[in-house]
Amino acid sequence: MAIQTVGVVGCGLMGAGIAQIAAEAGYATIVREAGEAPLAKGRARIEGFLSKSVEKGKTTKEQAAATMGRLRFTTKVEDLAPCDLVVEAIVESMPAKQELFRALDGLCGPDAVFSSNTSSLSIGDMAACTKRPASFVGLHFFNPVPVMRLVEVVRTISTSDRAYQVAVEFAQKTGKTVVTAKDTPGFVVNLLLVPYLLDAIRALEKGVASAKDIDTGMQLGCGHPMGPLALLDFVGLDTTLYIADIMSHEFKDVRYAAPPLLRRMVAAGMHGKKSGRGFYDYSAPAAAPAK
Ligand SMILES: NC(=O)c1ccc[n+]([C@@H]2O[C@H](COP(=O)([O-])OP(=O)(O)OC[C@H]3O[C@@H](n4cnc5c(N)ncnc54)[C@H](O)[C@@H]3O)[C@@H](O)[C@H]2O)c1
Repeated sequence: MAIQTVGVVGCGLMGAGIAQIAAEAGYATIVREAGEAPLAKGRARIEGFLSKSVEKGKTTKEQAAATMGRLRFTTKVEDLAPCDLVVEAIVESMPAKQELFRALDGLCGPDAVFSSNTSSLSIGDMAACTKRPASFVGLHFFNPVPVMRLVEVVRTISTSDRAYQVAVEFAQKTGKTVVTAKDTPGFVVNLLLVPYLLDAIRALEKGVASAKDIDTGMQLGCGHPMGPLALLDFVGLDTTLYIADIMSHEFKDVRYAAPPLLRRMVAAGMHGKKSGRGFYDYSAPAAAPAK
Protein backbone atom coordinates (compact mmCIF):
# COMPACT_ATOMS: atom_id res chain seq x y z
CA MET A 1 0.00 0.00 0.00
CA ALA A 2 1.53 3.32 -1.06
CA ILE A 3 1.24 5.99 1.59
CA GLN A 4 0.14 9.35 0.23
CA THR A 5 -1.24 11.34 3.12
CA VAL A 6 0.46 11.45 6.50
CA GLY A 7 -1.09 12.89 9.65
CA VAL A 8 1.11 14.26 12.42
CA VAL A 9 -0.59 14.91 15.76
CA GLY A 10 1.17 17.34 18.07
CA CYS A 11 3.44 20.02 16.63
CA GLY A 12 5.86 20.52 19.51
CA LEU A 13 9.58 19.72 19.48
CA MET A 14 9.12 16.34 17.81
CA GLY A 15 5.89 16.74 15.84
CA ALA A 16 7.18 19.83 14.01
CA GLY A 17 10.28 17.92 12.89
CA ILE A 18 8.30 14.83 11.86
CA ALA A 19 5.84 16.97 9.87
CA GLN A 20 8.72 18.76 8.16
CA ILE A 21 10.53 15.61 7.05
CA ALA A 22 7.27 13.96 5.92
CA ALA A 23 6.50 16.97 3.72
CA GLU A 24 10.11 17.11 2.48
CA ALA A 25 9.80 13.45 1.47
CA GLY A 26 6.83 14.40 -0.74
CA TYR A 27 3.88 13.33 1.43
CA ALA A 28 0.77 15.48 1.75
CA THR A 29 1.01 16.14 5.48
CA ILE A 30 -1.79 17.19 7.81
CA VAL A 31 -0.64 18.57 11.17
CA ARG A 32 -3.05 18.72 14.07
CA GLU A 33 -2.46 20.66 17.29
CA ALA A 34 -4.65 21.04 20.36
CA GLY A 35 -5.13 24.83 19.94
CA GLU A 36 -4.36 27.83 17.74
CA ALA A 37 -1.43 29.10 19.84
CA PRO A 38 0.63 25.84 19.81
CA LEU A 39 -0.31 25.36 16.13
CA ALA A 40 1.13 28.79 15.25
CA LYS A 41 4.23 28.06 17.36
CA GLY A 42 4.74 24.68 15.64
CA ARG A 43 4.31 26.20 12.19
CA ALA A 44 6.85 28.93 13.06
CA ARG A 45 9.26 26.23 14.27
CA ILE A 46 9.08 24.48 10.87
CA GLU A 47 9.42 27.77 8.97
CA GLY A 48 12.41 28.73 11.13
CA PHE A 49 14.12 25.37 10.55
CA LEU A 50 13.55 25.59 6.79
CA SER A 51 14.81 29.15 6.51
CA LYS A 52 17.98 28.19 8.40
CA SER A 53 18.43 25.29 5.93
CA VAL A 54 18.10 27.77 3.06
CA GLU A 55 20.65 30.14 4.70
CA LYS A 56 23.09 27.23 5.10
CA GLY A 57 22.58 26.20 1.47
CA LYS A 58 21.16 22.77 2.44
CA THR A 59 17.79 23.52 0.82
CA THR A 60 16.74 25.90 -1.93
CA LYS A 61 14.07 28.56 -1.42
CA GLU A 62 11.87 26.69 -3.91
CA GLN A 63 12.26 23.37 -2.06
CA ALA A 64 11.41 25.03 1.25
CA ALA A 65 8.32 26.63 -0.31
CA ALA A 66 7.29 23.27 -1.81
CA THR A 67 7.66 21.63 1.63
CA MET A 68 5.45 24.30 3.22
CA GLY A 69 2.98 23.81 0.36
CA ARG A 70 2.58 20.12 1.24
CA LEU A 71 1.75 20.95 4.88
CA ARG A 72 -1.75 21.66 6.09
CA PHE A 73 -2.30 22.89 9.65
CA THR A 74 -5.44 22.30 11.67
CA THR A 75 -6.84 22.08 15.18
CA LYS A 76 -9.67 19.74 14.12
CA VAL A 77 -9.12 16.03 14.68
CA GLU A 78 -11.69 15.22 11.94
CA ASP A 79 -9.29 16.70 9.36
CA LEU A 80 -7.06 13.64 9.88
CA ALA A 81 -9.72 11.33 8.38
CA PRO A 82 -8.01 10.95 4.94
CA CYS A 83 -4.61 9.94 6.39
CA ASP A 84 -2.99 6.64 5.35
CA LEU A 85 -0.47 6.87 8.19
CA VAL A 86 -0.81 8.84 11.43
CA VAL A 87 2.24 9.65 13.55
CA GLU A 88 1.28 10.74 17.05
CA ALA A 89 3.68 13.09 18.88
CA ILE A 90 1.59 14.59 21.68
CA VAL A 91 2.42 14.77 25.39
CA GLU A 92 3.87 11.59 26.96
CA SER A 93 0.64 10.55 28.71
CA MET A 94 -1.15 7.25 28.12
CA PRO A 95 -4.69 8.58 28.83
CA ALA A 96 -4.13 11.49 26.39
CA LYS A 97 -2.73 9.18 23.69
CA GLN A 98 -5.51 6.59 24.13
CA GLU A 99 -8.19 9.28 23.93
CA LEU A 100 -6.67 10.51 20.68
CA PHE A 101 -6.35 7.04 19.10
CA ARG A 102 -9.92 6.14 20.08
CA ALA A 103 -11.11 9.23 18.20
CA LEU A 104 -8.86 8.50 15.19
CA ASP A 105 -10.06 4.88 15.06
CA GLY A 106 -13.57 6.10 14.36
CA LEU A 107 -12.42 8.66 11.79
CA CYS A 108 -9.72 7.09 9.60
CA GLY A 109 -10.17 4.40 6.96
CA PRO A 110 -9.78 0.71 7.88
CA ASP A 111 -6.38 0.44 6.12
CA ALA A 112 -4.82 3.44 7.87
CA VAL A 113 -1.78 2.63 9.99
CA PHE A 114 -1.40 4.30 13.39
CA SER A 115 1.95 4.98 15.00
CA SER A 116 3.26 6.66 18.13
CA ASN A 117 6.51 8.53 18.69
CA THR A 118 6.36 7.67 22.40
CA SER A 119 9.70 7.28 24.16
CA SER A 120 8.58 4.96 26.92
CA LEU A 121 4.88 4.07 26.84
CA SER A 122 3.59 0.71 25.64
CA ILE A 123 2.58 0.72 21.96
CA GLY A 124 0.50 -2.39 22.71
CA ASP A 125 -1.55 -0.50 25.34
CA MET A 126 -2.33 2.22 22.78
CA ALA A 127 -3.18 -0.35 20.11
CA ALA A 128 -5.49 -2.18 22.52
CA CYS A 129 -7.85 0.81 22.76
CA THR A 130 -8.54 0.65 19.00
CA LYS A 131 -10.16 -1.92 16.72
CA ARG A 132 -6.95 -2.12 14.64
CA PRO A 133 -4.19 -3.50 16.93
CA ALA A 134 -2.53 -5.18 13.91
CA SER A 135 -2.17 -1.78 12.22
CA PHE A 136 -0.23 -0.24 15.08
CA VAL A 137 3.51 0.41 15.33
CA GLY A 138 5.97 2.60 17.16
CA LEU A 139 7.90 5.17 15.10
CA HIS A 140 10.44 6.61 17.51
CA PHE A 141 12.29 9.58 16.01
CA PHE A 142 15.11 11.51 17.68
CA ASN A 143 15.54 15.19 18.42
CA PRO A 144 16.13 17.29 16.30
CA VAL A 145 14.18 15.14 13.85
CA PRO A 146 15.44 16.75 10.61
CA VAL A 147 19.04 16.15 11.72
CA MET A 148 19.09 12.84 13.61
CA ARG A 149 19.34 9.84 11.30
CA LEU A 150 17.82 7.09 13.45
CA VAL A 151 14.27 5.78 13.78
CA GLU A 152 13.32 2.89 16.03
CA VAL A 153 10.43 0.98 14.46
CA VAL A 154 8.62 -0.85 17.24
CA ARG A 155 6.63 -4.03 16.69
CA THR A 156 4.10 -5.17 19.26
CA ILE A 157 3.06 -8.82 19.53
CA SER A 158 0.06 -7.90 17.32
CA THR A 159 1.73 -5.71 14.63
CA SER A 160 1.12 -7.08 11.13
CA ASP A 161 3.90 -7.42 8.54
CA ARG A 162 2.05 -4.87 6.42
CA ALA A 163 1.94 -2.21 9.15
CA TYR A 164 5.61 -2.84 9.93
CA GLN A 165 6.52 -2.45 6.23
CA VAL A 166 4.48 0.77 5.94
CA ALA A 167 6.41 2.21 8.91
CA VAL A 168 9.81 1.09 7.58
CA GLU A 169 9.08 2.50 4.11
CA PHE A 170 7.95 5.83 5.56
CA ALA A 171 11.04 6.10 7.78
CA GLN A 172 13.37 5.19 4.91
CA LYS A 173 11.68 7.61 2.51
CA THR A 174 12.35 10.40 5.00
CA GLY A 175 16.03 9.46 4.81
CA LYS A 176 16.32 7.69 8.16
CA THR A 177 18.07 4.48 9.17
CA VAL A 178 15.76 1.98 10.86
CA VAL A 179 16.45 -0.26 13.80
CA THR A 180 13.67 -2.63 14.84
CA ALA A 181 12.84 -2.98 18.52
CA LYS A 182 10.40 -4.94 20.68
CA ASP A 183 7.61 -3.10 22.50
CA THR A 184 9.48 -2.77 25.77
CA PRO A 185 9.90 0.51 27.73
CA GLY A 186 12.67 2.68 26.25
CA PHE A 187 13.17 0.37 23.25
CA VAL A 188 16.93 0.28 22.56
CA VAL A 189 18.21 3.83 22.92
CA ASN A 190 16.33 5.12 25.98
CA LEU A 191 16.75 1.81 27.81
CA LEU A 192 20.47 2.62 27.85
CA LEU A 193 20.38 6.43 27.78
CA VAL A 194 17.86 7.29 30.52
CA PRO A 195 19.80 5.79 33.49
CA TYR A 196 22.90 7.66 32.29
CA LEU A 197 21.04 11.00 32.12
CA LEU A 198 19.48 10.47 35.56
CA ASP A 199 22.90 9.58 36.99
CA ALA A 200 24.25 12.89 35.68
CA ILE A 201 21.52 14.72 37.68
CA ARG A 202 22.38 12.59 40.75
CA ALA A 203 26.05 13.58 40.32
CA LEU A 204 25.02 17.26 40.25
CA GLU A 205 22.78 16.76 43.32
CA LYS A 206 25.66 15.16 45.23
CA GLY A 207 27.94 18.07 44.31
CA VAL A 208 30.40 15.83 42.47
CA ALA A 209 31.05 18.66 40.00
CA SER A 210 29.32 21.69 38.44
CA ALA A 211 26.87 21.24 35.55
CA LYS A 212 29.44 22.61 33.14
CA ASP A 213 32.18 20.28 34.42
CA ILE A 214 29.91 17.20 34.30
CA ASP A 215 29.11 18.04 30.68
CA THR A 216 32.70 18.88 29.74
CA GLY A 217 33.84 15.65 31.41
CA MET A 218 31.58 13.50 29.26
CA GLN A 219 32.26 15.49 26.08
CA LEU A 220 36.03 15.46 26.30
CA GLY A 221 36.45 12.26 28.32
CA CYS A 222 34.10 10.10 26.26
CA GLY A 223 33.90 11.94 22.96
CA HIS A 224 30.16 12.66 23.31
CA PRO A 225 28.96 15.56 21.12
CA MET A 226 26.92 16.95 24.02
CA GLY A 227 27.13 16.57 27.82
CA PRO A 228 24.23 14.82 29.65
CA LEU A 229 22.82 17.95 31.33
CA ALA A 230 22.83 19.95 28.09
CA LEU A 231 21.18 16.95 26.43
CA LEU A 232 18.50 16.88 29.15
CA ASP A 233 17.78 20.58 28.51
CA PHE A 234 17.51 19.79 24.83
CA VAL A 235 15.16 16.79 25.27
CA GLY A 236 12.98 18.67 27.81
CA LEU A 237 13.04 18.03 31.56
CA ASP A 238 9.26 17.54 31.66
CA THR A 239 9.44 14.89 28.93
CA THR A 240 12.38 13.20 30.69
CA LEU A 241 10.43 13.12 33.98
CA TYR A 242 7.44 11.47 32.26
CA ILE A 243 9.76 8.90 30.71
CA ALA A 244 11.65 8.19 33.96
CA ASP A 245 8.39 7.74 35.90
CA ILE A 246 7.01 5.35 33.29
CA MET A 247 10.21 3.27 33.07
CA SER A 248 10.61 3.23 36.85
CA HIS A 249 7.01 2.04 37.28
CA GLU A 250 7.47 -0.63 34.61
CA PHE A 251 10.88 -1.99 35.65
CA LYS A 252 10.80 -1.31 39.44
CA ASP A 253 14.50 -0.54 39.07
CA VAL A 254 16.08 2.38 41.01
CA ARG A 255 18.26 3.24 38.00
CA TYR A 256 15.12 4.72 36.37
CA ALA A 257 13.90 6.61 39.49
CA ALA A 258 13.69 10.38 38.91
CA PRO A 259 16.08 12.30 41.19
CA PRO A 260 14.32 14.89 43.43
CA LEU A 261 16.14 17.75 41.65
CA LEU A 262 14.53 16.79 38.33
CA ARG A 263 11.07 16.80 39.92
CA ARG A 264 11.69 20.18 41.63
CA MET A 265 12.93 21.77 38.40
CA VAL A 266 9.92 20.56 36.41
CA ALA A 267 7.54 21.79 39.15
CA ALA A 268 9.27 25.18 38.95
CA GLY A 269 8.68 25.37 35.19
CA MET A 270 12.34 24.78 34.30
CA HIS A 271 11.68 22.49 31.34
CA GLY A 272 15.01 23.11 29.59
CA LYS A 273 15.75 24.97 26.40
CA LYS A 274 12.09 25.21 25.31
CA SER A 275 11.15 27.12 28.50
CA GLY A 276 14.32 29.25 28.53
CA ARG A 277 15.74 27.63 31.66
CA GLY A 278 16.91 24.18 32.70
CA PHE A 279 20.38 23.19 33.86
CA TYR A 280 21.49 26.17 31.75
CA ASP A 281 19.97 29.60 31.32
CA TYR A 282 18.86 30.24 27.72
CA SER A 283 17.58 33.76 28.31
CA ALA A 284 21.17 35.03 27.98
CA PRO A 285 22.76 35.18 24.48
CA ALA A 286 25.18 32.31 25.30
CA ALA A 287 23.77 29.53 27.53
CA ALA A 288 25.31 29.79 31.00
CA PRO A 289 25.01 27.22 33.84
CA ALA A 290 21.84 27.99 35.81
CA LYS A 291 23.39 27.00 39.15
N1 LIG B 1 11.73 15.55 23.27
C1 LIG B 1 12.41 14.52 22.78
O1 LIG B 1 13.66 14.56 22.65
C2 LIG B 1 11.68 13.28 22.31
C3 LIG B 1 12.38 12.32 21.55
C4 LIG B 1 11.68 11.21 21.06
C5 LIG B 1 10.35 11.04 21.36
N2 LIG B 1 9.69 11.97 22.12
C6 LIG B 1 8.25 11.75 22.38
O2 LIG B 1 7.52 12.56 21.47
C7 LIG B 1 6.28 12.97 22.07
C8 LIG B 1 6.20 14.49 22.04
O3 LIG B 1 7.30 15.03 22.73
P1 LIG B 1 7.79 16.53 22.50
O4 LIG B 1 9.13 16.63 23.10
O5 LIG B 1 7.55 16.93 21.07
O6 LIG B 1 6.73 17.31 23.44
P2 LIG B 1 6.26 18.84 23.34
O7 LIG B 1 5.74 19.18 24.70
O8 LIG B 1 7.32 19.70 22.73
O9 LIG B 1 5.04 18.77 22.27
C9 LIG B 1 3.83 18.12 22.50
C10 LIG B 1 2.76 18.90 21.72
O10 LIG B 1 1.56 18.11 21.67
C11 LIG B 1 0.46 19.03 21.74
N3 LIG B 1 -0.72 18.26 22.13
C12 LIG B 1 -1.06 17.78 23.35
N4 LIG B 1 -2.20 17.08 23.26
C13 LIG B 1 -2.60 17.11 21.95
C14 LIG B 1 -3.69 16.56 21.21
N5 LIG B 1 -4.61 15.81 21.81
N6 LIG B 1 -3.75 16.78 19.87
C15 LIG B 1 -2.81 17.52 19.26
N7 LIG B 1 -1.75 18.07 19.90
C16 LIG B 1 -1.64 17.85 21.23
C17 LIG B 1 0.91 20.10 22.72
O11 LIG B 1 0.18 21.29 22.53
C18 LIG B 1 2.40 20.25 22.36
O12 LIG B 1 2.60 21.26 21.40
C19 LIG B 1 6.26 12.36 23.48
O13 LIG B 1 5.57 11.15 23.44
C20 LIG B 1 7.75 12.15 23.77
O14 LIG B 1 7.99 11.12 24.70
C21 LIG B 1 10.32 13.11 22.59
